[in-house]
Amino acid sequence: MTQRVISGTSTPEDVGLDSSLRPKHLTDFVGQDLAKENLSIAMQAASMRGEPLDHVIIYGPPGLGKTTLALIIAQEMNVEIKVTSGPAIERPGDMAAILTRLNRGDVLFIDEVHRLSRVVEEILYSAMEDFFLSWMMGKGLGASNVNLRINPFTLIGATTRFSMVSAPLRDRFGSIYHLDYYEPEDMSLIVERSSRILQVDIEESAIQQIALRSRGTPRVANRLIKRCRDYALVVGDGIISGDMAREALEKLEVDALGLDRTDHRLLGSIIDKFTGGPVGLDTLAASIGEEADTIMDVYEPYLLKLGFLDRTPRGRVATPMAYTHLDRTPQTKAPSPQGRLI
Ligand SMILES: Nc1ncnc2c1ncn2[C@@H]1O[C@H](COP(=O)(O)OP(=O)(O)O)[C@@H](O)[C@H]1O
Ligand SMILES: [Mg+2]
Repeated sequence: MTQRVISGTSTPEDVGLDSSLRPKHLTDFVGQDLAKENLSIAMQAASMRGEPLDHVIIYGPPGLGKTTLALIIAQEMNVEIKVTSGPAIERPGDMAAILTRLNRGDVLFIDEVHRLSRVVEEILYSAMEDFFLSWMMGKGLGASNVNLRINPFTLIGATTRFSMVSAPLRDRFGSIYHLDYYEPEDMSLIVERSSRILQVDIEESAIQQIALRSRGTPRVANRLIKRCRDYALVVGDGIISGDMAREALEKLEVDALGLDRTDHRLLGSIIDKFTGGPVGLDTLAASIGEEADTIMDVYEPYLLKLGFLDRTPRGRVATPMAYTHLDRTPQTKAPSPQGRLI
């Protein structure tokens, strides 16, 4: 997959940026009011009872703040956080080692929790439920059963694919938080906040430009601010004006709604090659030379959110809004002969 400037997925370029711009407290976390409110109550109740917070699963597209929220929870609960990810834990013994090292109340954050292997996941079931570990060490005659009590802890799982989290694991989380793409007003607040922290000179109209072109995704907004800052520094006087932002983003081929060349290729293909659809995911993937999974995880969610794409049982369909945005005239299907049912 080519590197897209509007991709929500973290790139090496984002690592430093992510940590310097991450809100540290729940009150600095912009938007997602319902999730914030419920989380705040759950945390206060747990503190009042003197117990660890119930296990939490956070899901939503990349770049919306899942890792940030996990770090905030640990910070607000005043506990340590151990960060790992599903694919990083290879054997049950590795999982057990992590769990036995947790102190009372600590947070274990597992990113991409849907990618835990089955055997590793099974260790978690009793750990989450009863803070108890039970697993077979070794194989064959030398195998022995190990049982261990561990400290009560909070598991925070993050995933972009909620439906791929197994049912037994899903059932063991006490609460589920869904992060959705941010509304333009929240995006403006995020752009303003990040610009302030990065100490960039930015005009109000540029804030709006970037907010609208960031696909409702804070990580994308942060990246675009940086690109605009570089552009303004080299081409202008260092101040990001509205025109400067528009020019910089046009050069990056990010359009007024945050769509890039790949989005245009995908929608254009449905419209031009498949008369607007429906077209099956695999056929579409082959026609633009992308993986079906990549289309589903990376490209489609935002197009669905914009209402440019529909998923129907017979395949993907481009909506009239997509035609308008791409400047295409909908082809009228040949009229059926009058009076005949077809
Ligand atoms: N609600 C928010 N308010 C302000 N900035 C945010 C918010 N959510 C995310 N960010 C910014 O976006 C970046 C990416 O967020 P992150 O938590 O890493 O996303 P995810 O884990 O969902 O991929 C963070 O470093 C932070 O700067
Ligand atoms: Mg993350």
